[in-house]
Amino acid sequence: MAAYQYETHDYDVVVVGAGGAGLRATLGMAEQGLRTACVTKVFPTRSHTVAAQGGIAASLSNMGPDHWQWHMYDTVKGSDWLGDTDAMEYLAREAPKAVYELEHYGVPFSRTEEGKIYQRPFGGHTTEFGEGPPVQRTCAAADRTGHAILHTLYGQSLKQKAEFYIEYFAIDLIMSEDGVCQGVVCWKLDDGTMHVFNAKMVVLATGGYGRAYFSATSAHTCTGDGNGMVARQGLPLQDMEFVQFHPTGIYGAGCLITEGARGEGGYLTNSEGERFMERYAPTYKDLASRDVVSRCMTMEIREGRGVGPDGDHIHLHLNHLPPEALHLRLPGISESARIFAGVDVTKEPIPVLPTVHYNMGGIPTNYWGEVLNPTADDPDRIVPGLMAVGEAGCASVHGANRLGSNSLIDLVVFGRAAAIKAGQVVTAGAPNPKVNKASVEFAFNRFDGLRHANGNVGTAELRLEMQKTMQADAAVFRTDKTLAEGVTKMTAVAGKMDDIKVTDRSLIWNSDLMETLELTNLMPNALATIVGAEARKESRGAHAHEDYPDRDDANWRKHTIARVDGSKVDLSYRRVVTEPLTKEAEGGIDLKKIAPKARVY
Ligand code: FUM
Repeated sequence: MAAYQYETHDYDVVVVGAGGAGLRATLGMAEQGLRTACVTKVFPTRSHTVAAQGGIAASLSNMGPDHWQWHMYDTVKGSDWLGDTDAMEYLAREAPKAVYELEHYGVPFSRTEEGKIYQRPFGGHTTEFGEGPPVQRTCAAADRTGHAILHTLYGQSLKQKAEFYIEYFAIDLIMSEDGVCQGVVCWKLDDGTMHVFNAKMVVLATGGYGRAYFSATSAHTCTGDGNGMVARQGLPLQDMEFVQFHPTGIYGAGCLITEGARGEGGYLTNSEGERFMERYAPTYKDLASRDVVSRCMTMEIREGRGVGPDGDHIHLHLNHLPPEALHLRLPGISESARIFAGVDVTKEPIPVLPTVHYNMGGIPTNYWGEVLNPTADDPDRIVPGLMAVGEAGCASVHGANRLGSNSLIDLVVFGRAAAIKAGQVVTAGAPNPKVNKASVEFAFNRFDGLRHANGNVGTAELRLEMQKTMQADAAVFRTDKTLAEGVTKMTAVAGKMDDIKVTDRSLIWNSDLMETLELTNLMPNALATIVGAEARKESRGAHAHEDYPDRDDANWRKHTIARVDGSKVDLSYRRVVTEPLTKEAEGGIDLKKIAPKARVY
């Protein structure tokens, strides 16, 4: 065994990650008197939720009629009928409660004239089960909603005496011989010490893996660490082939320009100055679902109607909107456009391009956040002691495509649900299980092996190879040819992990080693994505397969389950949950309303 001394910490619950989901879970656990630690590789308010702009969806009806069932319908349709019905009902029903809780915790939402929470339109959110006009459902704090939520939840968590372990990197889960999660092994980045967190429940809230791609709105810290830890334990990842491209990343820089910009009246044009979305989505136009808008932009560029000297991007116009409205509702993106595109939004359009933004797939869970390890006989088998929430988890509410502003609400609804469940299954203060020494040893040996890796390929070089492969071969549009090539290339890229070279052997602020650990997490995410995509012979949501342009419910309305072992991926499938939580007679949705049909906007 690699000889590392370590300090042991005992808690009822350990949450890994301090973004919106991690903090909401941490707060909920601590409020119930559970001894709660939150372990995070970045300072909590630097977590990627801080970058969330446009808002958080909930049917509050502050700006006009709305209903949780309309929100549920839009989410089902947005998911292209791959989401789990129980989880989607839970999300839409609980959303208003979760937002009012945020308000009471102190989130500084923008306000209407009457002092209610301000809500704006967002893509794919409609009234009357998709028959009525767009709805204003997205609750906003200007265009800095994630920032407002994150700061509030961190303050509230501190007030509840949750304990934070900041700039601790989680290396691996600790699992018992019989598959119970018992904690997590961590490396403290600023002093090089090692830590074993022992708990009755571990909650992974580690975010997405946008950095598996070359151009992403995601922070550089979005490296799918929880997914990687899960994969190394032989546990599966679900629906990884569904990667969301946000229509409006700033051309070149990749930074996000919120969909709220179109919600506030912005629109897209091609090189002919045409508002082309009117052709593709006659009803909802620029506010169609974001997978649809991203595809339409890509088609315009491919057909020679892109803007700029190389005809390779699209224009987003806000310059027709009153400057006061831009200042009030969209101050953050006005600044981003100036800094990253050199554009004054009151005068000129912003150059934009679809950019990787969100992972619909992740660690399979039920709607309480409990991690699943499905078998053919038991598709809902629970992994004791382990939960996953937020972008790391796949409950699955977003199915094949997530609606804008359904991410922030996912974070708080399911962070809160995980806390409620933990309150039921964890006994506060009860003795913790004795940790499995072999599992701790596995983590230290892996860490030590990477620390002393002396191969021929540098981490940055290999990461770039992975990112370019994913960008080229698992893109907005996919074909049998690009996907098959992508699988071959990614298998070779992942194989090179055995030849990695780390140059810095120290333990204190060793960013070379940390980025290498992150790369070991990105790699299984990337592999599961491309192998799952290659296998899925249909088009659904964000998976647009040119050789199979139609959705095929008979054969493919099922979740992909991917188990990654080194550079090998083993696929199986799991049923989609079609039963709601509440029967219609008891106030639930009429199932005929959400039966699969063609998805047009
Ligand atoms: O466009 C945005 O503000 C992003 C929102 C989201 O991804 O939910």
